[in-house]
Amino acid sequence: MISGKAKVCGIMAYPVEHSLSPMMHNFYAGQMGIDFAYVPFKVPEDMVEAAVKGAYALNLTGMNITVPHKQRVIPCLKELDPAAESIGAVNTLVRMEGGFKGYNTDAPGLLRAMTEQGMEIEGKDCLLIGAGGAAKAAAFVLGSRGAASVVVLNRSESRGWELAEDMNRRFGRAFMTAMALKDYEKLPAKAWLAVQTTSVGMAPHRDQAPIEDREFYKSIRNAVDVIYTPFKTRFMSRVEEAGGRAVGGLDMLIYQGIEAFELWNPEQKVPCHVISRAREMMIKELER
Ligand code: ATR
Repeated sequence: MISGKAKVCGIMAYPVEHSLSPMMHNFYAGQMGIDFAYVPFKVPEDMVEAAVKGAYALNLTGMNITVPHKQRVIPCLKELDPAAESIGAVNTLVRMEGGFKGYNTDAPGLLRAMTEQGMEIEGKDCLLIGAGGAAKAAAFVLGSRGAASVVVLNRSESRGWELAEDMNRRFGRAFMTAMALKDYEKLPAKAWLAVQTTSVGMAPHRDQAPIEDREFYKSIRNAVDVIYTPFKTRFMSRVEEAGGRAVGGLDMLIYQGIEAFELWNPEQKVPCHVISRAREMMIKELER
């Protein structure tokens, strides 16, 4: 039941109709008996500032922000979490005195998806496939969790280097380098931890992977794909066929939501059995 005292949150996106977040957050609130409501807001780019002001005036507890507003929302905030500042993207707003504070829960969501599967980052040699927005959050996680080295493999090598140099500066250590995706055969043989952040392999292009060559996958020990449609990508299948372990984007999506839900309800921790049920529900929804 939603009472007059309910905390109200929502997601701001354009389009918003495809979002699984309302289902996810209302499910947690229902399962945990929290007086909370979460609704979709379809906001065009030129209305982002008005929408953030309006959300504050309407006493919203927080918001999720997604494509295409994750950067545009930053100047509208009262405060910015340092990790979100380094990543340059905000996906969660939390109400504070006089405005909203911006966070990025994609990064802790990725980290939690990996740690729940026992994938360690500290001391590992990593491959980061892609150099866009999702890669930046992943690079931040790898850097802040002590990756020994990260090679950015990107179609455009210069964009890969831009990301690598930005992160090397931020972390004050030269742990990142870049290479053109087509040159993957030049990589030294290592037990890589790979994070796939491009859109290659996303439905309807399920029969694609950023690298097709099965030889490449033999040197991958652990892998994450940020794509969640399909929830088992061709990239993940290739890793598993070659004997490695792979985590998909659905776990990341779930844990970024959990991190946001816990920022809005700091006195609550979403229990594991509720997370598992949400996962089943989302798989059903994605299969529809
Ligand atoms: P996002 O914010 O989702 O990461 P993005 O900023 O548009 O999206 O980045 C998309 C990433 O996927 C980039 O690394 C892009 O490579 P380029 O920087 O060379 O453009 C990569 N990408 C997209 N389509 C690709 C393809 N067909 N083959 C290889 N890489 C691709």
